Amino acid sequence: MSQRYRPDSHSLFAEQLAYYNARAQEYDESVQQTGRYTGPGIPEVDTEWQYVARRLHALPRVAHTLELACGTGLWTQELLDISDQITAVDGAPEMLATNQAKLNSPRVTYQQADLFAWQPQDTYDQVFFAFWISHVPPERLTAFLQQAAAAVEPGGRIFIADEPAGGKQLSGPVENDIEQTRTLHNGETFRIVKVYHDTQTLQRQLEALGFTDVELWVGDFFFWLTATKS
Ligand SMILES: C[S@@+](CC[C@H](N)C(=O)[O-])C[C@H]1O[C@@H](n2cnc3c(N)ncnc32)[C@H](O)[C@@H]1O
Repeated sequence: MSQRYRPDSHSLFAEQLAYYNARAQEYDESVQQTGRYTGPGIPEVDTEWQYVARRLHALPRVAHTLELACGTGLWTQELLDISDQITAVDGAPEMLATNQAKLNSPRVTYQQADLFAWQPQDTYDQVFFAFWISHVPPERLTAFLQQAAAAVEPGGRIFIADEPAGGKQLSGPVENDIEQTRTLHNGETFRIVKVYHDTQTLQRQLEALGFTDVELWVGDFFFWLTATKS
């Protein structure tokens, strides 16, 4: 019987957070192909990544973006080009500190929060999360999307980017449908959640939450989805 995420989900979530907290610097280097990860990269992956960024840049400017799981700021930096102000949330203090040190922008406000326990306190005209939804297990998907939707102002938009089901699984295969073992440069290993979500399911869930004008693009490595809250 395949072992699904169950009673010790809290320890899995805690381990995932500990992993990202320990990996902040490495994460940044690996995605930007600098430092310990300096290298030519994979051209097809770079092309798709740039396409996601271009799509984001083509969207109308907003007053206030809420960025969930902001990480080291790869997307916060892009969001600054189309947002007057950003509230950037992450559970890992090292991610937040790296992001803040890199961007050093008075237009970004940082909040530390565990997104599995988080409830939005405000509404925003854009809610954005990149490479986060794949760390939300299917059993938590509806609850998380409800929370994210509640943070979107009527008429505002949501933008999601991540790795799709049926793609080339850049982050490697998953175990038990929803988990991976990740190893840091120093050899330390962690269990984390990793799910290549079905993009049609995401679209249907957002439509059920009152989103319209859904635009969905699915590539070999990444997808983006944007929709407007009615
Ligand atoms: C794959 S990284 C994505 C970071 C950033 N969005 C990007 O695309 O570069 C996943 C992020 O989720 C954050 N994270 C993991 N578990 C979390 C939790 N329970 N609550 C809030 N953030 C969490 C990590 O700290 C990390 O910054």
